[in-house]
Amino acid sequence: MSKTIVITGGAGFIGSHVVRLFVTRYPDYSIVNLDALTYAGNLANLADIENSANYHFEKVNILDTDALKALFAKYQPDGVIHLAAESHVDRSIMSPLDFVYTNIIGTVNLLNTARDAWKGKEEGKRFYHISTDEVYGALGDTGFFTETTRYDPHSPYSASKASSDHFVRAYGDTYGLPVVISNCSNNYGPNHFPEKLIPLFIHNIIERKPLPVYGDGHYTRDWLYVIDHAAAIDLIFHKGVAHSTYNIGGFNEWKNIDLVKLLCQLMDVKLGRPAGDSEQLITYVKDRPGHDRRYAIDASKINEELGWKPSVTFEQGLELTIDWYLANTEWLKQVTSGEYQHYYEQQYTKREQ
Ligand code: NAD
Ligand code: TYD
Repeated sequence: MSKTIVITGGAGFIGSHVVRLFVTRYPDYSIVNLDALTYAGNLANLADIENSANYHFEKVNILDTDALKALFAKYQPDGVIHLAAESHVDRSIMSPLDFVYTNIIGTVNLLNTARDAWKGKEEGKRFYHISTDEVYGALGDTGFFTETTRYDPHSPYSASKASSDHFVRAYGDTYGLPVVISNCSNNYGPNHFPEKLIPLFIHNIIERKPLPVYGDGHYTRDWLYVIDHAAAIDLIFHKGVAHSTYNIGGFNEWKNIDLVKLLCQLMDVKLGRPAGDSEQLITYVKDRPGHDRRYAIDASKINEELGWKPSVTFEQGLELTIDWYLANTEWLKQVTSGEYQHYYEQQYTKREQ
């Protein structure tokens, strides 16, 4: 059956993989990529599919309610997959209000637009909100986040995502908007902006720049290859139960320092450098304030209900990721010019302990 789906944030890291999957897998669907093209949005991420007949791009900011209304009137979407967000914790510590505007107010604008456009016609519609495991807060050495874990965000980023999740559920309960939410662990893979741990460190290893490990390096994250997240989003969009939540994770916990050492070893091989070369770049720096100690997801619900599981191991995914960055040095050069230099200086200069 043909559908029109608005994917917000489709020019970003995860959004571009979701757009590509939907455009190529569902030729009968019309896919509208709604993106404001902030520093994190890059149409080069979609160069391979930009001429597809079922793909449309609209440069729209989710803070612009008139533009949202006009876009809904133009395309009459059956579904929204909402990924547009400010997504980096360190930036949220520097500029929390940007996160309030886009992540909270922008999400409410989108909810209002969908509610008004779909009023009395909710049958067959879906508002799918993409969220993060960071809303659940931090774990100690044991335990996992489940779909019923109490929200306990600690960073301005996770607080803004938690708030947006609450609004999405509230619109489901109050207005009968057919909503669904997923909360995913840390993604990695091609097209990841080099401000997050893995792409930043790949970039710095290539450039032989210091690898700034925050605090003692024993913080733990659960890593998922981005293409596996996109596959989970496809399943939840089509088969997930309305008004429910799904946790998505990689069954793949790593302490930062162990991950960084593995990355250094793989990069030394790929770059033809002597073993141990890149590890010498590791530099312990001042910790991130409010740094969550450990995230770990119990993804058994999506596994049991929808049959989803990751398709690649971490070692396979990391190798695919490194190969992509080494083959796309122009992409890396483009995104690390301009604003990036300013951010990098603010974030890392004088951070050494
Ligand atoms: P990203 O920062 O790479 O991309 C965000 C995209 O949103 C960009 O294309 C940007 O231009 C666009 N955008 C930002 N503000 C906008 C606005 N006001 N109006 C319209 N577009 C705007 O983010 P990502 O890592 O791809 O994350 C996508 C979503 O997934 C986010 O909602 C994030 O919270 C969530 N998420 C991310 C991860 C992760 O590990 N990256 C994990 C779980 C959940
Ligand atoms: P990040 O990629 O920013 O994702 P998140 O904070 O959303 O989990 O960071 C992943 C982990 O890596 C987190 O524990 C912080 C740490 N980190 C560093 O040690 N150094 C860095 O330069 C960055 C960006 C992150």
